[in-house]
Amino acid sequence: MVNIPSPGQKPRAMTVPEFAAAKGRGQRLVMVTAYDYTQARLVDEAGVDGVLVGDSLGMVVQGMPDVLGVTLEDVLYHTRCVARGLKQALLVADMPFLTYQVSIEQAVLNAGRLIKEGGAHAVKVEGGVRSREVIAALVRADIPVMGHIGLTPQSLRRLGGFRVQRAKEQLLQDAQAVAEAGAFALVIECVPGEIASAITASVPIPTIGIGAGAACDGQILVLHDLLGLYTDLRPRFVKRYAELGQQIVNALRTYAEEVRQGLFPTAEHEFR
Ligand code: KIV
Repeated sequence: MVNIPSPGQKPRAMTVPEFAAAKGRGQRLVMVTAYDYTQARLVDEAGVDGVLVGDSLGMVVQGMPDVLGVTLEDVLYHTRCVARGLKQALLVADMPFLTYQVSIEQAVLNAGRLIKEGGAHAVKVEGGVRSREVIAALVRADIPVMGHIGLTPQSLRRLGGFRVQRAKEQLLQDAQAVAEAGAFALVIECVPGEIASAITASVPIPTIGIGAGAACDGQILVLHDLLGLYTDLRPRFVKRYAELGQQIVNALRTYAEEVRQGLFPTAEHEFR
C-alpha cells in the first residue's frame, strides 16, 4: 500500500497525482467504500489508499434494490460525513444516475458540488466511449475523474441485470476513451480476468478491479460486503474478511438478555 507509514512516521495525505503515479511504481492500490464518519475513521486507520462514497449506498445504506434512486444530495451528505473522518486516503464521490448524463453544464455543476461542498478530491463517472465528453469537460474544469466500465450498475435497466461483461473490443475501446478523456484512474467491474488484464496493459492509468481478477493495478470492494454486514446479495467476487453482521446480532442479543434479566446497567455504569 502506498500510504502506510513506518512506525513514528506521520501518514501523508494521498493526492490524485500520487494515486495515478502508483501504476508506474508498480504499487497495487487499495480502495474501499465508506458512507459515514465512523467508517471513514476506521478505513483511514487501516491505511487504504482511496475511499469511494459509492452510489452502492442506495443498496447497503438505504435498502433499495439498486442504485438508480440515489440522488446527488444523498451522495453529497455521505461525502461530507466521510470527509470529516479521513486524514490520508483519497476521497472519491460517485456521480449518481442522471446527474451527468443530461448535459455537460449540469455535470460540471453537480460534480463541482461534490468537490466544493462535499470535500471530495475526485468524482467517479460510469461509462466509456459514451462518457468521453463529460469526462473531458470535468477534467477541463479541474475536477479529477475516476472512470468506471464493465458492469456499470446505473445501466441496470439496459443490461437486464447484474451480469459479467464480456465484449472485449468494446471494453478496450471504453478504457481507451476514458484514459484519453483525462481520467486519472479506471474502475473495471465484473469483467473476466483475461479481459481486465488486457485493459490494464493497454491504458496508462491505474485500473481498479471489482470482480475483474488479479491483474488490475488495484482492487475495490464495498465495505459492507467485505465485513459481512450486507447479506442480501453475495456476488462471487466478494471475499468476506469478517462476519461483523453476525457479531453485531450476537452482541445485541447479549445486551437484550442482560437488560431483561436486570444484569445491565450495574453500579459502574451509574452516576452517583
Ligand atoms: O457504488 C459503488 O460502490 C461502486 C463500486 C462498487 C465500484 O461503484
